Amino acid sequence: MQLRLTATVSVVVVLLSVMVFLLPNSAEAHNITRILAKYPEFSTFNHLLTVTHLADDINRRTTITVCVVSNAGMSELLAKHLPINSIKNVLSFHILLDYFGAKKLHQITNGTALAATMFQATGDAPGSSGFVNITDLRGGKVGFGTKDDGTVDATFVKSVDEIPYNISVIQISSILPSSEAEAPTPGPSQTNLTDLMSAHGCKVFAETLLGSDAEKTFDDNIESGLTIFCPGDDAFKNFLPKYKNLSAAGQQSVLEYHGVPVYQSLSTLKSNNGVMNTLATDGANKYDFTVQNDGEDVTLKTTRVTAKITGTLIDEQPLAIFTIDKVLLPKELFKATLTPAPAPAPVADAPKPSKKHNSPPAPASPADSPADSPDGDPADQTADNNGAVGFNGERFVALGLSLCLAFFFS
Ligand SMILES: *[C@@H]1O[C@H](CO)[C@@H](O)[C@H](O)[C@H]1NC(C)=O
Ligand SMILES: *[C@@H]1O[C@H](CO)[C@@H](O)[C@H](O)[C@H]1NC(C)=O
Ligand SMILES: *[C@@H]1O[C@H](CO)[C@@H](O)[C@H](O)[C@H]1NC(C)=O
Ligand SMILES: *[C@@H]1O[C@H](CO)[C@@H](O)[C@H](O)[C@H]1NC(C)=O
Ligand SMILES: *[C@@H]1O[C@H](CO)[C@@H](O)[C@H](O)[C@H]1NC(C)=O
Ligand SMILES: *[C@@H]1O[C@H](CO)[C@@H](O)[C@H](O)[C@H]1NC(C)=O
Repeated sequence: MQLRLTATVSVVVVLLSVMVFLLPNSAEAHNITRILAKYPEFSTFNHLLTVTHLADDINRRTTITVCVVSNAGMSELLAKHLPINSIKNVLSFHILLDYFGAKKLHQITNGTALAATMFQATGDAPGSSGFVNITDLRGGKVGFGTKDDGTVDATFVKSVDEIPYNISVIQISSILPSSEAEAPTPGPSQTNLTDLMSAHGCKVFAETLLGSDAEKTFDDNIESGLTIFCPGDDAFKNFLPKYKNLSAAGQQSVLEYHGVPVYQSLSTLKSNNGVMNTLATDGANKYDFTVQNDGEDVTLKTTRVTAKITGTLIDEQPLAIFTIDKVLLPKELFKATLTPAPAPAPVADAPKPSKKHNSPPAPASPADSPADSPDGDPADQTADNNGAVGFNGERFVALGLSLCLAFFFS
């Protein structure tokens, strides 16, 4: 009896753990880009959500309402030629931090509600300018106002998609005006890259970049997402003779090789190994390198050199700048016979072969592959891989469950 009771309790405990395991894993998070892709009339809004990276914020949250405006309604906003940061603020003003399905909109308690928006949540909204006033109006209309005086700026048109109570996508008649959101904010697009790098240990790299075509390439990519790996002063100083020896096109390529046209936070880099294209990538000229985690370190491997991230200058969407201890040498420009990178080689790294991973079936000597692979695989596994962990967890629990059941029925 006592045994049987204990067994029953175990089964219950195990069942509960199974549920805890299954819930977050079986869940399909919403994807606003995919939802709106079904409606061509909202393509402008959808595109802007992507380039402002607001789509990521929306996908991360639940209990949220996105008030979209048709392409025709968006032309008014586009005509203002606002900087991307202001557009981001304007759009974030259309993301309500509560779930308003069509039904709830028409049945607001006391007829009016003040909804906080994502603009309010950014902290960029002065006072209460980040709130939207929703009011049930005569004749079944729902009004959206941005001022305290009860002015109705836009009205509810229709429900576009509802996933209760995660996300509601509704169409409203026009963009909600907000002088606060439209005000130009000092954003990353005004960041002076070369100044920032100069002041933080990458003076030589920054000075080399200054006034070059590569500088323009970097600047042009900030808005849409940019990650720069800037070599420290000692490393780049030693590299200068080789740099000066390159053709103008080669110089531009090697500089652009240190930039990646997507924003990659340090945590993203730490949880993802793989090949990465760069600003120098141009069709057949791959100019890529491999990101590989090595314990706490993130290393960047070309077939010619392995550099390590040594510091962070900025890591804030859409811009990240990291310092690295060596100049990245693309195989497209530097022959393998070249002596190893003229860097102040940190002793710990030195014995590692800086080959493999990137190149296609490389004529690598069989001797160096066994040496490399053992440290490659564990790194993959410790990476933040929820899928794999969840799967193992379920299996483990399922095993526990069957053992308990066997015990119970014996
Ligand atoms: C709502 O989001 C949660 C968390 O992402 C998820 O577990 C759940 O399945 C979602 N609900 C629906 C109906 O998609
Ligand atoms: C959302 O969907 C778009 C288009 O299908 C896709 O490109 C994007 O990677 C998806 N985002 C996430 C977080 O899955
Ligand atoms: C609705 O109005 C009543 C009476 O004025 C008030 O007591 C109540 O707090 C209001 N409810 C909300 C949600 O504002
Ligand atoms: C919201 O708008 C209604 C009328 O549209 C108005 O009566 C109410 O005072 C407004 N509430 C706030 C807090 O602005
Ligand atoms: C950054 O500042 C330097 C001077 O410190 C200047 O020469 C350069 O043009 C600036 N770059 C941009 C993009 O404004
Ligand atoms: C510069 O290029 C020449 C010819 O390709 C080569 O012989 C020389 O070693 C190079 N110098 C440096 C510093 O790379």
